[in-house]
Amino acid sequence: MMDSIYLIISFILAILAILIELYVIYSILLSRFCKYPPAFPTFGTLRKKTLAEAEKILSQSSKNLKVVDLGCGAGGLLLPLAKKYPNHQFVGYDWDWFMVKWAGFRGRKLKNLKIIKQDISTVDVKEFDLLFSFLDTKALEIVHERIYKEISPSAILISPVFALPKTQAIKEIEAQSYGLPLKIYVYSKSRNNL
Ligand SMILES: C[S@@+](CC[C@H](N)C(=O)[O-])C[C@H]1O[C@@H](n2cnc3c(N)ncnc32)[C@H](O)[C@@H]1O
Repeated sequence: MMDSIYLIISFILAILAILIELYVIYSILLSRFCKYPPAFPTFGTLRKKTLAEAEKILSQSSKNLKVVDLGCGAGGLLLPLAKKYPNHQFVGYDWDWFMVKWAGFRGRKLKNLKIIKQDISTVDVKEFDLLFSFLDTKALEIVHERIYKEISPSAILISPVFALPKTQAIKEIEAQSYGLPLKIYVYSKSRNNL
């Protein structure tokens, strides 16, 4: 009896290990051999403070805002905000099929949340009031070279960990997490305080 249970558990673990390995291969190929960032969520104090910064903007606004996460992963930033602020609209873009399905499933009951499978280099960002980008490497280049130029003058971009090159942040928030000296960078073309 015990032998059969061990056999079944080993079989399930082996299947899980194969699935994880296949996903790692998929991620490496999708990220063009790590030229683009993988699906890695915000965490700890970094996540709490990023959400708190967004909440300040969302709770103070009298108009309904459009919020986007460029590379939304599993929706770790968008889901709690969409749940708490049903009057604002939330959109997440990611090119990882599994992340899009997972985030979409987690947010299936939220009418103000859309998760779209799309390369962020083709997203029209003019309509958004608040943007998140937890991105580095080539994806940060897209944010720096195109997206930040195209956002509306009143829009706010929150970038956990990664600073835009040669661009002055209006705010830098200390967000040390698990001993790592991290910061959150907040950008706006027209505002100089928040
Ligand atoms: C570091 S994760 C950020 C996850 C989420 N925003 C969060 O803060 O928890 C970066 C995500 O960006 C996605 N990504 C990277 N380059 C992309 C691109 N060019 N177009 C769309 N998604 C991209 C990855 O698939 C990954 O899920």
